[in-house]
Amino acid sequence: MSSNHHSPRATRRRLLQGAAAVAAFSISRVGRGAGERLGVGFIGAGGRAGSHMQIVRRLRDQEKSPVDLVAACDIYRPRLQQRMKAFGIPKGYDDHRDLLADPKVDVVCIATPDHHHGYQAIDAIKAGKDVYCEKPVTHWRQFDLTKRLAETVAGSDRVFQLGTQAMSDSVWHQMKQLVQDGLIGQPLFGETGFFRIGDWGERGMRVDDPKARPGKDLNWEAFLGDAPKRPFSVDRLFRWRLFEDYAGGPVTDLYPHCLTQVVDILGVQFPEIVAATGGIHRYTYELRDVPDTFNLLAQYPEKVTISLVGTQANDHNLTDQRGAGARQPAIRGWDGTLTIDKNKEILFTPVHVKGAKKPQRIPIERPESTVNHWKNLLDCCRSRKKQTWSPMDLAFRVQTVLQMAALGAKQGKIARFDAKKREIVLG
Ligand SMILES: NC(=O)c1ccc[n+]([C@@H]2O[C@H](COP(=O)([O-])OP(=O)(O)OC[C@H]3O[C@@H](n4cnc5c(N)ncnc54)[C@H](O)[C@@H]3O)[C@@H](O)[C@H]2O)c1
Repeated sequence: MSSNHHSPRATRRRLLQGAAAVAAFSISRVGRGAGERLGVGFIGAGGRAGSHMQIVRRLRDQEKSPVDLVAACDIYRPRLQQRMKAFGIPKGYDDHRDLLADPKVDVVCIATPDHHHGYQAIDAIKAGKDVYCEKPVTHWRQFDLTKRLAETVAGSDRVFQLGTQAMSDSVWHQMKQLVQDGLIGQPLFGETGFFRIGDWGERGMRVDDPKARPGKDLNWEAFLGDAPKRPFSVDRLFRWRLFEDYAGGPVTDLYPHCLTQVVDILGVQFPEIVAATGGIHRYTYELRDVPDTFNLLAQYPEKVTISLVGTQANDHNLTDQRGAGARQPAIRGWDGTLTIDKNKEILFTPVHVKGAKKPQRIPIERPESTVNHWKNLLDCCRSRKKQTWSPMDLAFRVQTVLQMAALGAKQGKIARFDAKKREIVLG
């Protein structure tokens, strides 16, 4: 395999990519028919990609949705081949830019380690593809890339869905509507968290082959991407979520799942200040350098504050559970608070003052479903509606908070946001 970057092959690839982009943009101007088949290409063929492949296959076979698994890409060939065989995927690539030049690919699913998402999503948009991108949208150190991706998506007609599948749960959209309708009055506070026990998501990642080595079947340079150059390590390849070079611990790995809905419900834009703390409090073994406990407080110019606390060392739920890991928020306003009761209803509890509003219970329409998250994306691809359930403009606002928190906590500093320049300032 050749290196991903400065080869003549890469130049040819970029030319191909340009041609593909022109072709795809002209298709999109015409629009897609409701029954037109969409080809999905998978960038990254590891654990999460396997779940997405199952979903797309199920949509095709059981729900007769006009969608096909047309290509996959991975820098580690044994995984790529295993997935191609298991799912009958006809085309395999070792470089995502080759997959993007494939005209059969209409939609890409990006499920690589965090530090590749932003680059691959930008390449995909520029190649004229619609995108399902796994969270976090970028790595914690890549704020400029987050900004560039947001601008790229905003300046295109491409559809983007972030893999925060909790956004397929109607409860958050219902809560957002209630807030917009004025039920809680002036929004004040969003309180959320993420609690679970275990380091299975990091140390527990499967090592496919302890003897794997870089070579024609494994492109270590391409795995590293923009991360610090390091000698090959089986742990870094297979258990990359242990390391800050490629992951961030709960703040970027888990918190997109509980912060996205709160930012959306409250309708806030960018925080002025984020203060955060965290550390490795329980899983203190040599390999791990990402925190297991992380807390943040974000204050917004809209006079709203969001608090988020969490750890991987305790899983008690203070309230009934919706989604995993005690992620139920309380949304407080001047007139009252929204919570979720017994996983069935949204509960409005008025503040205790004379003349207060009446309590209310609102049934929840639809639960979380990753299948529905995919359907929402594919519907938007067909109708060319850009507003998916978890669009890039929302991902940008959420990721800004998480990156401010991660950078600030690392340096023991408060992070401020310069809204004019759209820059993070640590002080
Ligand atoms: N939404 C969710 O609930 C959820 C759950 C699990 C994982 N995820 C996300 O999915 C992503 C993938 O996680 P995973 O658990 O599948 O990891 P994984 O290690 O199992 O899979 C990642 C794959 O990407 C490949 N890869 C690395 N660099 C590449 C490159 N430059 N080009 C192409 N392929 C490359 C690796 O070889 C590997 O096969 C992560 O960002 C993670 O946060 C989301």
